[in-house]
Amino acid sequence: MSTPNKEIVVSGIRSTGNLHLGNYFGALRKFVSIQDDYDCNFFIADLHALTTNPDPDQLHANTKSILAEYLAAGLDPEKSTIFIQSDVPEISEMYLLLNMHVGIGELMRTTSFKDKARKALGIGAPPEGESDEAFEKEIIGATTNKRVNAGLLTYPTLMAVDILIQKASKVPVGKDQLQHLELTRRFARRFNSFYGVDFFPEPTDFEFGGAPVKVPGLDGSGKMGKSEGNCIYLVDEPKVLRKKVMRAVTDEGPQAPNSPMSEPIANLFSLLELTSKPEIVTSFREAYADCSIRYGDLKKQLAEDILAITTPIRERVADILADEDYLASVVRRGAERARERASKTLSEMRHIMGIRKF
Ligand code: ADP
Ligand code: TRP
Repeated sequence: MSTPNKEIVVSGIRSTGNLHLGNYFGALRKFVSIQDDYDCNFFIADLHALTTNPDPDQLHANTKSILAEYLAAGLDPEKSTIFIQSDVPEISEMYLLLNMHVGIGELMRTTSFKDKARKALGIGAPPEGESDEAFEKEIIGATTNKRVNAGLLTYPTLMAVDILIQKASKVPVGKDQLQHLELTRRFARRFNSFYGVDFFPEPTDFEFGGAPVKVPGLDGSGKMGKSEGNCIYLVDEPKVLRKKVMRAVTDEGPQAPNSPMSEPIANLFSLLELTSKPEIVTSFREAYADCSIRYGDLKKQLAEDILAITTPIRERVADILADEDYLASVVRRGAERARERASKTLSEMRHIMGIRKF
């Protein structure tokens, strides 16, 4: 809530599907834990979701389900400002203004843009050491049915606006978002120096202490992610969830005492560490070390421990989703609060840039 002496925190998640364990441990659980100590602003980035041209009904359903999942996991509208990005029209206007200070070259060099543009064009990464010239030519030459949309290019401008419009100083995000945060700082500095003002603060990552969490998938390698298609969702029914965990990739088992772990097994242990009691983790580690481990037992335990976390959330999601009036009142109030600071920032920014009233 808008409290003058607390540091301002902003973060959001795109509405591209249900939240999974990666979103929960990497983002949402942290949001919940800082609500008492910071001026927290958490939103659903539906405008960012538009960059990949979702089906309109699907977009609305996703925005609603993420809102319910935020609330069910413990985001509290009495403590935090919870809102939908598109409910704050000042963001869209500031996006236009800030874009006047952003170079297309720096946007084209952003890793997330290159990845997403390659996906849109159906081309792979260049061989190591090779220049990206061919890629740039492909983008410029792309025809209408295989185009890279301009919203994807200016994604970092929009994210910078989300943060700067609230004058946030701390932004809790995963590792994959740090480049966007670096760009945000660069845009803030550039604006301040171009107009000779000390207007935007430079936001930094929110340090939670300890290594950042990376939740692995259960398909043997890599992270859990929507585009990886390997997600365990907070709202998965127990039967579905148990099946996903029991199907996790394993190996033939340790062949000698104290053998090193293969990646799929290390991934199972990472999840166990996030969800189980320390003594349970220790007992499975000991069983692995002395070769008595049975992966089936490990998976059964893991499934039950994940369910202990997700079940209360899943049950609350169902109740919250059914209460349309409550959902509407939460976002109405959130938008009002978010717009207070956003409209102040925007009108000052317009003035600084020379867009002034007669
Ligand atoms: P996805 O990768 O599934 O599309 P998003 O990009 O929408 O997820 O991520 C939303 C938030 O959740 C970000 O802060 C991101 O860093 C975090 N996150 C997503 N996947 C993971 C993961 N596997 N481990 C840790 N954090 C994650
Ligand atoms: N780009 C972020 C992601 O994909 C979502 C996001 C949009 C965001 N605007 C933000 C995160 C502002 C933090 C602050 O996960």
